[in-house]
Amino acid sequence: MNQNTCDFSKQDSKKSPETHFNFKAKMKHKTIIEPFKIKSIEPISLSTEKEREGFLENAHYNTFLLSSEEVIIDFLTDSGTSAMSAEQWAGVMKGDESYAGSKSWFAMKNAVNHLTGMEFILPTHQGRAAERIIYGYLGGEGKTFISNTHFDTTRANIEFSGAEALDIPVQEAHDFSSNYPFKGNIDIEKLKEIIDLKGADNIGAVIITVTNNSGGGQPVSMENARQVSEICKAQDILVILDCCRIAENAYFIKHRESGFEDKSFEQIAQEMFSLADGAVMSSKKDALVNMGGFLALRDKTIADECSNLLIITEGFATYGGLSGRDMEALAIGLKEVFDPHYLEYRIKSTTYLGEKLHQMGVPVVRPIGGHAVYVDAKTLYSHIPVHQYPGQALACELYLKGGVRTVEIGSVMFGKYDEMGKLIPAPMELVRLAIPRRVYTQSHIEYVIETFEEILATKSSIKGYEIVEESDFLRHFTAKFKKVQ
Ligand code: F0G
Repeated sequence: MNQNTCDFSKQDSKKSPETHFNFKAKMKHKTIIEPFKIKSIEPISLSTEKEREGFLENAHYNTFLLSSEEVIIDFLTDSGTSAMSAEQWAGVMKGDESYAGSKSWFAMKNAVNHLTGMEFILPTHQGRAAERIIYGYLGGEGKTFISNTHFDTTRANIEFSGAEALDIPVQEAHDFSSNYPFKGNIDIEKLKEIIDLKGADNIGAVIITVTNNSGGGQPVSMENARQVSEICKAQDILVILDCCRIAENAYFIKHRESGFEDKSFEQIAQEMFSLADGAVMSSKKDALVNMGGFLALRDKTIADECSNLLIITEGFATYGGLSGRDMEALAIGLKEVFDPHYLEYRIKSTTYLGEKLHQMGVPVVRPIGGHAVYVDAKTLYSHIPVHQYPGQALACELYLKGGVRTVEIGSVMFGKYDEMGKLIPAPMELVRLAIPRRVYTQSHIEYVIETFEEILATKSSIKGYEIVEESDFLRHFTAKFKKVQ
């Protein structure tokens, strides 16, 4: 990838990756290579556009309902789709499957303690299980949760408890062309206003989501997290860090926020955790595993209550729905993700795709986020009204033209209905190209770019969709669509 890069020649296997990495040294090559070799491969089944027309019809025009064998490049999510390292696979073999107090649990607990600085760790099978436990406990009728942007499962768990979830990203987050470096930040003035309006006792928690997934994968600055933390501390309000992309967020802080240039990615992450009272992690992202999550807390009373809830549905407190092998791999992944060579390649490859699309004239959210490129479907398909879901139309077209599976993050995912049954659209109509970690190579990325050439060439003839079947919560997973004629 055509970006300046780091000095791989200075590697010394005895030192930790962070100490032998020299950001100031430049390699003579401009191309950033994937800093790994492929040991084991998984075939991709190729298909024609004609075949994909049938597959998409059978899936009711919902990319979640496609079979993975019908997909060529799977950018549906970066969650649980990472390629594990040889080290992690070796960890899988070492997994201790004891019901209680397994060695693998202690490996995971120590890794999470070390990173978060939090004493009480509850393992869960994935992020939303931790969300259900903590927000079920803190939530309920009359409570308000405030976040830069609640992820869909976060919002669903909060609303399911009877509480409300308010999103207050900074103004710049709504301007796709603004180059503001921390568009994931929380609007501090609005935060104060809402706390005054609702009363501090009625705030369930303030949730800082790093990076801000539903807001374009944009980072949150340390300064913003510090301000949120100070405001909340003064009024005894809990701050929860939704930290599933904490390493990617740390990368942006190191490169964009002054004072962090000489800190390691892990130190930056640790500093951010120090500003929170608790953390929820879907480890399927930055812990580089296919399954896993946790809830970390500082307060013993809350942790004890949550632990009771955990045992009812997830499993005993030393495995929480995870196998010993999962916990072993998670402990290793949580360290590997802070390897500067990996993070450099990870962020630069996402940026490469996003910037290429931008240069071609595809409207994308900029600056490019860490784990995904977000296309502004409302601008691309400006002829499709929001109630005909331009984002869904683009997700379908990307699949048809290139077998590229993506997801709509717009009014299908976040739209609501008023009392008259009229759609209240989401603030943005985005399509997310989420890039699995360590899975695809440069040529896969080039293939996706080529698919977009066709998307641009055919854009004016594309029609919207209507929903013919849907559920009350998280409807995007199962909704069925019909093309508008
Ligand atoms: N929080 C954020 C910010 C997320 O992005 C996700 C999942 C979760 C919580 C829930 O975690 O899936 O392990 O239960 N995001 C995935 C995605 C599904 O595709 O962005 P989970």
